[in-house]
Parts: sequence; structure tokens; C-alpha cells
Amino acid sequence: MDSSQTRVAHYDDTVVRQFSIMAVVWGVVGMLVGVFIAAQLAWPELNFGIPWLSYGRLRPLHTNAVIFAFGGCALFATSFYVVQRTCQARLFGGPLAAFVFWGWQLVIVAAAISLPLGFNQVKEYAELEWPIDILITVVWVAYAIVFFGTIGVRKVKHIYVANWFFGAYILAIALLHIVNNVAIPAGFMKSYSAYAGVQDAMVQWWYGHNAVGFLLTAGFLGMMYYFIPKQAGRPVYSYRLSIVHFWALIFTYMWAGPHHLHYTALPDWTQSVGMVFSLILLAPSWGGMINGIMTLSGAWHKLRDDPILRFLIVSLSFYGMSTFEGPMMSIKTVNALSHYTDWTVGHVHSGALGWVGLISMGSLYYLVPRLFGKDKMHSVKAIELHFWMATIGIVLYIAAMWIAGVMQGLMWRAINPDGTLTYTFVESVKATYPFYVIRVSGGLLYLGGMIVMAWNVWMTAISGRSVKVAIPAVNAAHA
Ligand code: HEM
Ligand code: HEM
Repeated sequence: MDSSQTRVAHYDDTVVRQFSIMAVVWGVVGMLVGVFIAAQLAWPELNFGIPWLSYGRLRPLHTNAVIFAFGGCALFATSFYVVQRTCQARLFGGPLAAFVFWGWQLVIVAAAISLPLGFNQVKEYAELEWPIDILITVVWVAYAIVFFGTIGVRKVKHIYVANWFFGAYILAIALLHIVNNVAIPAGFMKSYSAYAGVQDAMVQWWYGHNAVGFLLTAGFLGMMYYFIPKQAGRPVYSYRLSIVHFWALIFTYMWAGPHHLHYTALPDWTQSVGMVFSLILLAPSWGGMINGIMTLSGAWHKLRDDPILRFLIVSLSFYGMSTFEGPMMSIKTVNALSHYTDWTVGHVHSGALGWVGLISMGSLYYLVPRLFGKDKMHSVKAIELHFWMATIGIVLYIAAMWIAGVMQGLMWRAINPDGTLTYTFVESVKATYPFYVIRVSGGLLYLGGMIVMAWNVWMTAISGRSVKVAIPAVNAAHA
């Protein structure tokens, strides 16, 4: 058969396009809810006396929307894109990839309905009730089959490091989700955890911390190891370091969960183990950050006029900042001050807005034009505008929360010479008010940037077309 008659194999990018678009849509929705609850903390009457709009119901809606809908869709899109390119193979499993997309959207819609209605397992970041948990498990298993199946049918021998990070995140989330959600149903949308007391707390924070470590960190490091070298046009600074980074990170994260339970009924030695592993975690985290940033050596000038690269590199600076702050907060005596205060919320958002948000946005700006057959986004100026709105928004948000948090911690522990408390609790709430207003303004800027992105993505998509990219012939050097 002559080559003109051979059918050309293409990558399966439909699902990548769908997940990319939905990441932007859910980003806007999740951040909008974030701004709304931030405003409720400053002006509580904004719940209008309607139960569905109460803070207690909208807060988990915000966290689920930004982590699993925005972050989740960005991870699905990038992992499906990267695994195909680095394996030079089409997604494994045919229609299974489409099932993953529609199944995940169904999970998100079920969350968006059930959380405001008040259905909640009362486990942070695992609030969804058992029927939705079962759906998540089915979709996740399908995801794992597509991802690992594609690695199984790869045309190149080597498995690129980004896939190791994506693979670890997929396996770890499956394990965490199943173990933490074991529950006894007590009716439709009502269940009781299989664990009790301090065991329940430990399982929950083993889950909670590793959701941060594997979903909000390892998955996004997968993005980092593909999109930074691509956008910078340079190889990873040290491939050897990336392998050490991988093993050290996944080993250490698993043990750090007890730092969420300092000064509780958890045995003291367990708390100390959590603290020590959290301190050790600084090393692999910074190793990874340095590896990402140094990938730019010799190409620093590109930062001046490439806003996409700026998103990617600034995200790593926030990653470095939050992974320095986290180990410090895990030290028991520091945690005695920071726990229960807005310092924790500041830490969360320097990781969430700075690291997770910016790396996703940078990666999506790389992806979208390629997925729609364009050589760049509709407006590069709009990317620039987005970058500055997001960066200023983050700084306002986290600086306000740091100041508020340290102030609250100090006010709560201040005592008079006769041993009575210097401040009542309500005085600390009053003192926090201006910082809550500053947070709203930071959140509005960050959300505004996301809306600019949505417009830019929309304009790029409608002026482009869905392209079919041929899988290149196997490169003999890699085979
Ligand atoms: C416009 C942007 C955002 C705003 C205004 C915002 C606002 C808020 C507010 C007001 C809270 C509740 C804090 C409290 O209970 O005291 C919160 C919690 C949280 N948000 Fe956001 N958020 C935004 C974006 C994000 C993003 C993009 C992520 C993740 C990728 C995220 C992850 C979280 C998490 C994990 C919590 C729980 C924190 C904790 O329990 O300590 N947020 N957010
Ligand atoms: C070396 C890395 C890190 C360490 C050791 C660490 C440590 C900590 C500590 C000690 C707390 C406070 C626990 C408490 O007082 O209740 C915390 C909270 C938190 N951190 Fe980190 N952190 C790290 C990186 C990150 C990153 C990169 C993110 C986000 C992308 C993140 C997200 C969170 C969240 C969501 C919480 C709040 C949990 C909650 O109470 O709801 N952390 N972290």
C-alpha cells in the first residue's frame, strides 16, 4: 500500500478542548462564589435570609468549584494533552475519554445542586454525599484507564517526567477518595462515616493534606514540567533533579497530614511526625521550584514580552512562597498562633490563587490557540491585562489575610497582668473588618482577570476551528 493510502492517525483533542473551555467556565463560577462569600464575611446581611445563600452552604460550593471543577478540568485537559504528545499515541479507550468528560460535568452539577441544598458529609473537601462519591469513583477509574492505557500503548520508550506526576496524582486521589469516603448510607443523600472520633479526624486530614499534595501540587507540577519547557523553548533545567523531586515529594507528602491536627486528641507523637515531615517537605518542594525557574536560564529576556511565560514563572514563585510558609506553620508553636486565624486562609490562597490559578491559566493560554488552529490567542494585550489583575488581586488578598491572621492570633492570646483576656472575641472581629473589605477588592480583581480570560478564549475559539493534529511518525531516537 503506498503512503498516500495510509490513514493518518490523529490525537484525540476533542476532550482536551472541552475540558479547557469548562476549566475557564468553572473558574469564573467558582471565583464568583468566592467573591460572594468574601463579601458575606464583610457584610453578613448578603445572605438575604435565604438558606441556600447562607455562608455555611456556599463555602463548600466555592472550595469544590475551584478545586475540583476549575482545577480538575484544567488537570484533565492538560494531562490528556500531555500524555498523548509525550507518548506519541492517541488516547486509549475510545469513547471512555468522552465518558470522563460528561461524567465529571455531572459530578460538578450534582455538587452545585446538593451543596446549596445543605447535603454535606461534613468532611472538608470531601463534602459530597455517597451517591455522588460513587459517581466520582466510576469516572476516576475511567480516567485512570484512559491515562495509563495511553502510557501502555506509547510509541516512545521513555515515560516523560510530567506523566509521572500526573500518574501519581491519579493513583493517590483514587486511594484518598475511596478510603476517606467509606461511609454507611442512612438514606438517599445521608450517611455516617465508617470511622469515629480521632481516627475519623486523622483519616480526614490524611485525605485533606494529600488532596493538597497530590491534586493541588503533583498534578500541577505535571503541567509545570511540560508547559514551562515548551513555552520557554528550553529543556528542563535538570532532568535528574526532576526524578529526585518526584520520589522525594510523593514519599514525604503522605506523612504530613497530622499538622492539621496540632493540639488535638491525636497522640502527641503523631503530631510531631507530621511536623517533622512537613519541615522535610520544604526540600523537595523548593527543588522542584528551582528546577522550573532555572529552566529559563539563558532565556530570562523572554519574560519581558511573553505574558504566558510570566504566568508560569510567577506561579512558581508563589509555589515557593507557600511551600516555605507551610512548613513554618506546621511548627507546633507557630501553629498555636496561626491555627483558627485568617493566616491559614492567606496561606491557602497564596497556594491556590498564586500557584494553582496562575499555572493553570498559563497552561491554558498555551493550549487554547493550538487546540483551535491559531498561532496565538485572540488578544495578547488581554493576557497582559489578566496577568496584572491577577497578580495585584493575589497580593491584596494574601497580604490582608496575613495581617488579619497574625493580628487575630495576638489579640486572642493577649492577657492582662491579672490573667484576664485583654480583648473580647468581638473586638478581634471588628479589627478584622477592613481586611475583609480589602480581600473582597483583591478577589474582585482576580475574578475580573478570569472574566477577561473567558472573553479572550471565547474570541479565539469562535475565530478558529477544531483542528486535527496528526501523530508524528515515531522518532527513532526515542523508540
Ligand atoms: C476570586 C478568587 C477567590 C476568592 C475571593 C476566594 C475567597 C474565599 C473565601 C472568602 C473563603 C472562606 C475563608 C474562610 O472561611 O474564612 C475561601 C476558602 C477557600 N478557598 Fe477561596 N477564593 C478565591 C479563589 C480560590 C481558588 C482559585 C482556590 C483554589 C484553586 C480557592 C481555594 C479555597 C480553599 C481551599 C478554601 C478553604 C480554606 C480553608 O479551609 O482554610 N479559592 N475562599
Ligand atoms: C511544603 C508544603 C506545605 C506545607 C508543609 C503546608 C502546611 C500547612 C499547614 C501547617 C497548614 C495549617 C493547618 C492548620 O493549622 O489547620 C496548612 C493549611 C492548608 N494548606 Fe498548606 N502547606 C504546604 C503547601 C500548600 C500548598 C502549595 C497549598 C495549595 C496549593 C496548600 C493548601 C493548604 C490548604 C487548602 C490548607 C487549609 C486546610 C484547611 O484547614 O482547610 N498548602 N498547610
